[in-house]
Amino acid sequence: MISRTKMSDSKKDNRNPLFRGLKSLTGNFTPFEIDHLPEKPGELFIRWFEQALQERVPEPHAVTLSTVDHEGRPDARMLILKDVHGESFYFASSMESRKGLQLEQNPYAAITFYWHTLGRQIRLRGTATETGSIEGAEDFRRRPAEARAVAMIGRQSKVLESQQELEHVLDEQRQYLQEHPDAAAPLWRLYALKIDEAEFWQADSGRKHTRVQYRLNKDGRWEQQLLYP
Ligand SMILES: Cc1cc2nc3c(=O)[nH]c(=O)nc-3n(C[C@H](O)[C@H](O)[C@H](O)COP(=O)(O)O)c2cc1C
Repeated sequence: MISRTKMSDSKKDNRNPLFRGLKSLTGNFTPFEIDHLPEKPGELFIRWFEQALQERVPEPHAVTLSTVDHEGRPDARMLILKDVHGESFYFASSMESRKGLQLEQNPYAAITFYWHTLGRQIRLRGTATETGSIEGAEDFRRRPAEARAVAMIGRQSKVLESQQELEHVLDEQRQYLQEHPDAAAPLWRLYALKIDEAEFWQADSGRKHTRVQYRLNKDGRWEQQLLYP
């Protein structure tokens, strides 16, 4: 006789108790008014970013950057968004880091925001290029002193033998930067992600989320469409 899972067993919640009962997207979110949307996604991004600042979203400029390695395997990490001009989104990192090497081989990238208190997600896709050593040095010099010393070590994403080793090389770079306050890490770069697709996603606690997608046409014009939730 084929043994059947008892009804009571199949109904059992076998999830780790840490996850059971957790809620998501429960806020009383402001509906996304989709009449009179800006022509381009950069304008809507700035509008949403201003609202995130007004609503005191913590670190609204913290963003996930996704890249692809030489085997086509996706990779992702958090970064700070440094600036936005039109449809270009800027972040800074080291050219010799994992992301830097991946972008050199394959410039296609995506950045993703999630502003929990507003129930908003923004997805941006495009092509990232490094903006050159002058812009990189300018960004480097705007960093706080300790962040400059860390970046000055270089070797981002390389294997570190011990914390003591880090303290040692960090001391050397602190000293170097005191003596050379205008120095900049040679491989520090500002990257511009020029987007060709964007999606603005507003949560609805009943899961009837509103999604607006922008896509750049071959003729250079932006087209907008709604997406099913
Ligand atoms: C909130 C947050 C902000 C970060 N900002 C940056 C940044 O602006 N630039 C950067 O290189 N790494 C930043 N990091 C560290 C990266 O997530 C990552 O560890 C590092 O860049 C190495 O990534 P990679 O090995 O993929 O190149 C940040 C991490 C967090 C959590």
